[in-house]
Amino acid sequence: MDQQKKNEIFDHAKAWILEAGERIKSKIDSPRSIETKSNPNDLVTEMDQETEQFFAQKINETYQDHYLLGEEGFGDEIEDLGGTVWIVDPIDGTMNFVHQKRNFAISIGIYYEGVGEIGLIYNVMEETLYTARRGEGAYKNEHKLPMLDEERPLSESILALNTSWMIPENPHVEHQGMQDLVKKLRSTRSYGSAALEFAFVAEGLLDGYLTMTLMPWDYAAGSILVREVGGIVTRADREELDLLNKTTVLASRPNIHEEISTGYVRLKK
Ligand code: IPD
Ligand code: CA
Ligand code: CA
Repeated sequence: MDQQKKNEIFDHAKAWILEAGERIKSKIDSPRSIETKSNPNDLVTEMDQETEQFFAQKINETYQDHYLLGEEGFGDEIEDLGGTVWIVDPIDGTMNFVHQKRNFAISIGIYYEGVGEIGLIYNVMEETLYTARRGEGAYKNEHKLPMLDEERPLSESILALNTSWMIPENPHVEHQGMQDLVKKLRSTRSYGSAALEFAFVAEGLLDGYLTMTLMPWDYAAGSILVREVGGIVTRADREELDLLNKTTVLASRPNIHEEISTGYVRLKK
């Protein structure tokens, strides 16, 4: 992607994500219309939908040749990542949005010919904007994030994960390996927003994030951010991510990535 074009797109995305955040914040105490999607705990509100529509309108008006892949379905039917594709999660952490009125984010990853060029994650209530441009490092507001080059052993690491993967009946991963992993770690955290979990890995607050079922909009921005500070982002079996389908994800500091994946994570076939 041409540098000047990339900067222009970045500036627009940044202005729009801040504007969308402002709208959400101004209505945080308004009555909510809450519906469920794939299961009773998969929530969606009018604010998720309005926010995605806001991005759809801005992108359509400004860049007629760009595509939008959005969680709530106001974008395009995407079958490949040709051209410029905005991958948007209008509210990541909807359950937190509904129950806590905080700890949620807007996530935008912008891909050109399948390559992640721009990532933005906005922690709306804390007014913290994480940004990254490929090859230019990652930022928390105006502050450049340091590289993740410290070698920290697993026994001193904090890993974000969803504890449901430790239940024997879970369909994705052998629970014994997950229990061994938890025993080995210093501790675990579960923030309820994949985008924020990626941002915290990039910031070095978490040493890694392991999850079994993410959609493209959950990690499109976060993977760019973590890679820009030298972190590794792959599927949990260390294969390359498939940005068009549901996937497992392991994002971490470089020195613990292989150990977690090959030493503990045994995916069910
Ligand atoms: C969810 C959150 C959550 C993750 C789920 C996602 P949503 O996104 O990121 O942390 O565990 O897999 O679906 O539904 O709040 O946008
Ligand atoms: Ca999400
Ligand atoms: Ca969402």
